[in-house]
Amino acid sequence: MNIIEIAGQLEQTGYIVLDNPLPDKLTTQLFTRCQDDDPARFQAAHIGRGTDKKQINSIRGDVINWLDDADSTDRAYLACMETLRQGLNEALYLGLFDYECHYAIYNAGAGYAKHSDVLAGKNNRILTTVLYLNEDWQSSDGGELVIFEPTGMEVIATVIPKFGTMIIFLSESFPHEVLISHNTRRSIAGWFRVSGS
Ligand code: OGA
Ligand code: MN
Repeated sequence: MNIIEIAGQLEQTGYIVLDNPLPDKLTTQLFTRCQDDDPARFQAAHIGRGTDKKQINSIRGDVINWLDDADSTDRAYLACMETLRQGLNEALYLGLFDYECHYAIYNAGAGYAKHSDVLAGKNNRILTTVLYLNEDWQSSDGGELVIFEPTGMEVIATVIPKFGTMIIFLSESFPHEVLISHNTRRSIAGWFRVSGS
């Protein structure tokens, strides 16, 4: 990963799409980990927090599993993101304190309606990252990530969730939406946060 390039682009436009920032071997191992093999491992994702917490399939249809420090593949990914965290703090003085991330599987028919990643009453999420794990993704598979400019009116980027692509964006600035996927769509979504959570 070229941290200087990432920092520069985040400063200029607030987001960056990277083609293949991680070694292919690691991306493949992450794909293997992102399998719904044990029914207890992946759980329906929720929106909101505390008493506002809801699970509404029509808004958010993925199932998720938080990365596990005890797994060597997960640890390798977390180590890469730790390097990025430190580099971005040095370059941009963001004061990023930690990183949380989960695998996500959108089965055919699932999407995630337009939303912001900054939870109501909480603004500790600073940067969102999504790494896509899908080989041979076809345009007919749908599932694109659509990024809107801050007012939410205009589309500024459409990202195809293909193997190895990573997007990084300022969590508070960009409403975004996952279009309905017509194939099994795998990714790791994560957030660099400042302390106070
Ligand atoms: C999220 C999200 C985008 C994607 O999990 O909050 O917006 O492309 N994911 O999977
Ligand atoms: Mn989101």
